[in-house]
Formats: sequence, C-alpha cells, structure tokens
Amino acid sequence: MKTYAELAPSPRTILTPGPVEVDPRVLRAMSMPILGQFDPEFTALMNDTMGMLRQLFRTNNEWAYPIDGTSRSGLEAALVSLIEPGDKVLVPIYGRFGYLLQEIAERCGAVLVTLEQQWGSVFDPEEVIAAIRKERPDIVAIVHGETSTGRIQPLADIGRACRELDVLLVVDAVATIGGVPVETDAWQLDVVVGGAQKCLSVPSGMAPITYNARAEQKLLKRKRVERGLRTTSTPSSTSDPLFAPIRSNYFDLSQLQDYWSPLRLNHHTEMTSMLYALREGVRIILAEGLEARFARHRLQEQALMAGLEAMGLSLYGDPASKLTVVTCVNIPPGVDGESVRDMLLGKFGIEIASSFGPLKGRIWRIGTMGYSCSTKNVLHFLGAFEAVLVRHGVPVQAGAGVQAALDVY
Ligand SMILES: Cc1ncc(COP(=O)(O)O)c(C=O)c1O
Repeated sequence: MKTYAELAPSPRTILTPGPVEVDPRVLRAMSMPILGQFDPEFTALMNDTMGMLRQLFRTNNEWAYPIDGTSRSGLEAALVSLIEPGDKVLVPIYGRFGYLLQEIAERCGAVLVTLEQQWGSVFDPEEVIAAIRKERPDIVAIVHGETSTGRIQPLADIGRACRELDVLLVVDAVATIGGVPVETDAWQLDVVVGGAQKCLSVPSGMAPITYNARAEQKLLKRKRVERGLRTTSTPSSTSDPLFAPIRSNYFDLSQLQDYWSPLRLNHHTEMTSMLYALREGVRIILAEGLEARFARHRLQEQALMAGLEAMGLSLYGDPASKLTVVTCVNIPPGVDGESVRDMLLGKFGIEIASSFGPLKGRIWRIGTMGYSCSTKNVLHFLGAFEAVLVRHGVPVQAGAGVQAALDVY
C-alpha cells in the first residue's frame, strides 16, 4: 500500500496578490478545539466577528458577516440574492475581475450593460455616472481594487450618484479591504464584499460581506425559508404569482442573515475553524489600527517601487490609479517571465504572480498585502529579484534596488 509523507509545506515568502502569508496567530487560532455552531460560546464569537467586520468595513450596517466560501462566494451571494431575472445590471469593466462580475450577473439572469476601459487605467467616475443616468440600471456592480492590473477605482462619486438615482451599488473590495481605505457608509456603498486571503492575511475560505437596509429591502422581497425549516409562524410570500425566490439556497442572504441574527436559523454548518481564523485576523487588524495599517501598506509600496525603478525596470499602468497593494512590472523585452518566477521560487522561496488575458507574459504582479507586507519581505525580494534578473541577462545596476528601498525606509 502506498504511504504518504507527512504534510510539510516549505516556508515561502509570498508576494502575490493573494493568497498571502498568514499571521502565525491566525494559524494558531485555527488549531483551537471545535465548538458546536449553536453553543453560546460560539455564537458569541459570531457576534464578535460581526462587530469587528462593521469596524473593518467602516459601516453602521446591521449586516456584516462572512459567507462561507472563497471571495467569489461573497460576490455570488450578493448578486444572486439581489438580481431578479430581467433586472438591468451595469458592470464597468477595467480588468479580469470586472468580467467575473459580468459572468456572475449573467448567470443570475440579469440584462447586462457593460462599459469597458482599457486595462491599466480606471474609469473617470463621470463616465460611469453618465452611463447610469442613461441606462437607469437596477444595480451597478464594480471592482474597487483590480488585482489583474493593479488599479484602484475611486467610488465616492459613483456611490453618491447611485444613491440619488436609487440604484443599488455592489462593490468587489476583495483586494482592498484591510489594506487601503474602504468607506462603506461615507461612499454610500450598498453592498461590499471583502476577501480573506489578501490584505486580511487569513487563509482563503470566507468572504466577509456587508449590506445596508436598501439592499436588505430588496432581498427580503425574495425571501423563502427552505421547506424543512419552516414553522407555523414562518411568513410565506409564495402566494404572490410574481414572487421570484432567490435562486440559490447556499448563497441566499435572506436565510443567511437569519442564521447570523438571534433567530439562528439552522441553515448550513458554520466553518468553525475558518471563523476562528477570520475573527483572529480581523482582531489583529483592528489592534494594529486601520490608519496605521494603510500607512504600512503605502510605505512598503513606496520602497518596492523605488527599488524596482532604481533597478531600471518600468512599472505597468497609469500611475494615477495605482493600487497600493499590487505593483505591476513590465517584463523586459526578450525575458521569459515564467523562467524568472520559477527561479525566484525554486532558489529563493519567493513567489510573485504572472497575469491573465491580454497581460499574460507581459507583466509580473507583486502583492504587498497584510502579513506579507513587510520590510523584510520587500528587501529580500529586491535582492533576490536582482540576482535572478542578472542570471536572465537583464542589465540591472547591482545593489541599486535594495539601496533605493533602504533610502525610503
Ligand atoms: C479583485 C478580486 N475579486 C475577486 C476575486 C476572486 O476571489 P476568489 O479566488 O477568492 O474566489 C479575486 C481573487 O483573486 C480578486 O482579486
């Protein structure tokens, strides 16, 4: 019989736009004993987590809780719960994850209107607002931080316009939450979905989400409690012939919020160890302080960019819309980007990312997120990258990258 080796993952320096290194305190939290999902000790941890997520999202929304699944599960839960087949959904796209929003909305039966922006830049908010005025969609779905291109879309003006025009605004803040400001209430965002495995430095497997009363009102119209859970006092809205229940059971926010409320509807079995991880990850973030954390991400970005430019490399994309936590580097002509990545990982244990679609083979993407976003990692990376580039025949000025980063510190 085949025997299998004991699990022994190599220690890595992970500088991709996710997943990133996880704080040891989060890993330790995941090894704590399991509690039953209705044990008052566990439901108290759930309530703590909701309170912490409100602070993280900077919101007073009642609803802030995680969806069990990877980040796209949060996006899918938001869209499938809000979109009634035939609803008009506007998706401004400036990279791969805008297409993901389009893809999910389409599968929910939306009538799609898309706007496309050249990859490497973002939308002038006025362009999006003009499209909202023209199209009058029910919902706008947009990415805040686009990891495929390393860009960030300003949202405050779009949020204000959506509120004025009574349009629901759904935001993918998967890459930005916990790394750069996400102002749910101040920017008037109706639904915001975050990611665990990026700036929160928690393993992939939960997607924190928040939504306000405007969104709740819409999804409650489509609420249907599953048959085996109904009691004589469960309200039934199914007598209305136009009633269109939410088309997913797993991602039904109307039932999930009952699970996260004192009702404790017995929906799914909560991911106990992941909840411990998320709670510990967000606890650590709030203890660091959001502003201090954002400043740390900006400092490491500055040091990284200075180092790369001092080496003679050029950065990809419009500098005005650069996303702090993802730095994209143009692969010099004639250089095999994958060979560089392989050597960085194989010889130095450092992982950076390639890219997708039109940018495949054209840029490297370097993430400086959460626990991975440290002086040690940036300096180790710059030193190793220089060595690897020299091996690949790129004429870099020896020592310049690390020295430029040190100057920033
Ligand atoms: C901006 C953005 N949105 C959504 C996703 C999808 O997340 P997941 O792979 O966790 O489902 C990602 C993942 O890389 C992302 O970067």
